[in-house]
Amino acid sequence: MKTPKAIFYLVLLIMTSCAQTKEEQIVVYSYVEEPHSYAKPNNAFIKHLKLDITVDFETEIISGKATYDIENNNSTQIILDSKYLEIESVTANGKETDFSLGVNDKQLGQPLTITIEKNTKQIEITYKTTKDTEALQWLKPQQTADKTNPFLFTQGQAILTRTWIPIQDSPQIRISYEANVQVPKGLMAVMSAENPKEKNESGLYHFQMEQAIPAYLIALAVGDFEYKAISERTGVYAEKSMLNKVQEEFSDMEKMVSAAEDLYGPYAWEQFDVIVLPPSFPFGGMENPRLTFATPTVIAGDKSLTSLVAHELAHSWSGNLVTNATWNDFWLNEGFTVYFEMRIMEALYGKERADMLALMSRQDLDDELENLKETPNDTKLKLDLKGKNPDDGMNSIAYDKGYLFLRTLEEAVGREKFDAFLKQYFKEHAFSSMTTEKFVTYLNTNLLEKNKVTFNTEEWINQPGVPKNQAVISSDKFKNVELTLQDFILTGKIDKETTKDWTSQEWVHFIRNFPKTMTADQMKDLDTALNLTNSTNSYIQMVWYEQALNHDYHGKNIDSKIEDFLISVGRRWYVETIFKAFKRNNRMEEALKIYEKSRPNYHSVTAKTIDDLLGFEPTKEVE
Ligand code: BES
Ligand code: ZN
Repeated sequence: MKTPKAIFYLVLLIMTSCAQTKEEQIVVYSYVEEPHSYAKPNNAFIKHLKLDITVDFETEIISGKATYDIENNNSTQIILDSKYLEIESVTANGKETDFSLGVNDKQLGQPLTITIEKNTKQIEITYKTTKDTEALQWLKPQQTADKTNPFLFTQGQAILTRTWIPIQDSPQIRISYEANVQVPKGLMAVMSAENPKEKNESGLYHFQMEQAIPAYLIALAVGDFEYKAISERTGVYAEKSMLNKVQEEFSDMEKMVSAAEDLYGPYAWEQFDVIVLPPSFPFGGMENPRLTFATPTVIAGDKSLTSLVAHELAHSWSGNLVTNATWNDFWLNEGFTVYFEMRIMEALYGKERADMLALMSRQDLDDELENLKETPNDTKLKLDLKGKNPDDGMNSIAYDKGYLFLRTLEEAVGREKFDAFLKQYFKEHAFSSMTTEKFVTYLNTNLLEKNKVTFNTEEWINQPGVPKNQAVISSDKFKNVELTLQDFILTGKIDKETTKDWTSQEWVHFIRNFPKTMTADQMKDLDTALNLTNSTNSYIQMVWYEQALNHDYHGKNIDSKIEDFLISVGRRWYVETIFKAFKRNNRMEEALKIYEKSRPNYHSVTAKTIDDLLGFEPTKEVE
């Protein structure tokens, strides 16, 4: 290593180990090789972004300027990631400078290489998004709840931010940001930043995000929505027709934040709000800092699906504070978050509810292991996503095997020690990124060796499948559900007394565990007794529809219900589960017919997954 570089690393090392104030956070830095960004941050990296952009619903284009404060380690160029963007001009320290866009890779997009000088402190890029953008979904009024105004939202994770902002799109590179966003009058804009609580006349909104975050957490939503507080630091944004319902559904948010703080230390982001988006939002939730983005499918009317909020909140520690260094370390984000989610749910609603959720995760894990039995390497916690789109390689192993690993560890050392360890882990690594290897070292030193516990960490992380020493997960409630199901299979009768207080988790468990031999007639009997086809709980709908497809059930007009669901809901997990069931049961022709109608409603993330699943080739729009 040459001397200047060695000094550079030394300085970084010192910075990393110092206690951090807000100003210092952004310089913290120790970069590992990673396959999903063109940036070479060892040479030059961005540390602050200022956006001045206009959101135009007519042309469906975002355009404007992005100005970056940079740190230059004696380099003559800085490389950013750019995908499907039109770069108009670039300046360095205020003077026009050369730039070039490299070859377009289907997954990664293009490296945007900008000429800089040793003393370049600031660069500015004038740019536009294009029709091909993958992060943005532009919605027509009919695709919203209120049906009167258009809507726009972004989805950055994993590598989509580069399709709406030229950026160093690596989870290791953290920046603070500010933004001026001009939207049409009458609409409101919110970001993963300090947010307005009311609309303003001009449609010009200013945002500030002081805490340094990776690019995948920069987010924007524009539409006609309103804010309602739940507590001083928590609240919800939703379209008017849903606002009260949403506030009711999420009324435990403050309790969740305090329970989380009691477990693993202070909430670092000041405000915790949730915005409920139109139904095409491709995920259940997305942990954009200060403002979680959520699907309306969790508004069940009975708070039964709010573990999603606990999950996204938990990311405020695991993910947003301590961030996976590369997408290969994704389990550090999601496994920890599922573990933390369960602990928040247990703290608020008790062990019975948490046990049910844990057993659902266990069953999801078994299903995923079965799906991946031909490619066992995909069942390792530490992934190898080089050459792959991280979005395709990220399955529920990170979530459910990650959870089981941490739960097993908890049981090995005892909850008290495990909690103290996690609290310290988040504190020591706040606002920095973590590799799997670094975590293992930290775990060995601070938990296992300290307590003289031997543990097969290597096997859990680097071997396929699930080691033998897994925690045993059980739920008394689910045992009863299984008995009720067996009883129904034997007698053909369902005792309504038993099921009358069932939560949606119990219903889902009941439906998911139908035996292979279940007949369409048996499903009809159940439907007659319980009217499951007309359930308004999205999770129950999803599993019931899946079983209707598996068992060839066509009662109560269920086929058109399934079609309506697929057309109106774009949550990828739901949509994919149902289309997979069509495929598994040789009903591809119907699936493709529905998909032609539903695809225009989907965000690119969902559309891509279903294109691949059904072998659908989108016809290129004529320009
Ligand atoms: N961060 C994820 C969503 C995500 C993962 C987006 C990978 C893009 C790439 C989010 O926190 C999440 O896990 N959402 C789940 C919620 C569930 C586990 C409660 C979802 O959307 O279903
Ligand atoms: Zn998550």
